[in-house]
Amino acid sequence: FSLKPYNTFGVEATAKYFTEIATIEELKEAIRFATSHSLPILFLGGGSNVLLTKEFEGLAIQINLKGITEEVVDENHILVTANSGENWHEFVMYSLNKNYGGLENLSLIPGNVGTSPMQNIGAYGTEIKDIFVSCTVLNLETLEIEIFDLETCRFGYRDSIFKQEGKGKYVILDVTFRLTRRDHMIKTEYGAIKTELEKLHIEKPTIQDVSKAVIHIRQSKLPDPKVIGNAGSFFKNPTIPIIQFEDLKIKFPTIQGYPNEDMVKVPAGWLIEQCGWKGKQIGNVASHALQSLVIINATGNATGKEIFDFSTQIIDSVKEKFGIELEREVNII
Ligand code: EPU
Repeated sequence: FSLKPYNTFGVEATAKYFTEIATIEELKEAIRFATSHSLPILFLGGGSNVLLTKEFEGLAIQINLKGITEEVVDENHILVTANSGENWHEFVMYSLNKNYGGLENLSLIPGNVGTSPMQNIGAYGTEIKDIFVSCTVLNLETLEIEIFDLETCRFGYRDSIFKQEGKGKYVILDVTFRLTRRDHMIKTEYGAIKTELEKLHIEKPTIQDVSKAVIHIRQSKLPDPKVIGNAGSFFKNPTIPIIQFEDLKIKFPTIQGYPNEDMVKVPAGWLIEQCGWKGKQIGNVASHALQSLVIINATGNATGKEIFDFSTQIIDSVKEKFGIELEREVNII
């Protein structure tokens, strides 16, 4: 079964078995089938954060749980719960249409609601942990439903329990966010948003304005996966000790760094660009010309292996020039 339509890189890879589930009962049935046949399971959401490098010898399950519910908390707050299979950006648009605040900085992120807690998706000054209340998960071993609150999820930068000790043990069924109804917190500290709003002559931005600014910034430098296969940032921005940053600053005076607890976060895009990768193409794969942190399926014919090998070359050259080891953000299957 071809998984090409189910991964935003648009690479050809097959799974031995495939099923799409629309209810929790169907999901449990699929898991029981896999378990009884000793098949590994691959859960697919929006397919926007995976790189499929070979045939999957098991059961791929596309999570298609749909639906959004709301519960008023008080005059200013509402809990909104979206099922895993809801498209993330459509969910953000739904909340903005109702004038609920909190998700606007996360506009236009590819993928589905169900995978948003996995890597604590974040952009332009917001991470989902800022508005996250809980998520319902299915424990794959017991097939019992459990609720994970903010603390249990242990969110970090592009990180959560689902990438650590909970890896492969749960499937997320729905996610609940606490959004504002009136007194919205407008977050425009991220430089690019400020610049964008100034360009539009907007002084007192609404949540809808912030969303528009974010959409505009993203469209101006991130490739649309429907047009050019990609999975957003391929690597995480590394954090390095202050002392290492200061040493690098002597050798490379234009290096940027943002304080992050006791460390310094360095933009991976800058490091990659400095190694000459920006816009560079090898075979079917390239680093995006406008944002080198994004690896693209330039011809549409790239294989997962080719993309993986390309990313290894980037890691090697950044390591050689700066002594920093980049970590892949995308899940390699
Ligand atoms: N930069 C370069 N060259 C490049 C790309 C970036 O020098 O080719 C420099 C920029 O000039 C800027 C800095 O790096 O000073 C940061 O760039 P940008 O604002 O584009 O953000 P980023 O750190 O590259 C991160 C997230 C993005 C998110 C943006 C905005 C990670 C791994 N990526 O990118 O998330 O949209 O910030 O908040 O943290 C994603 O995860 O898929 C993703 C797109």
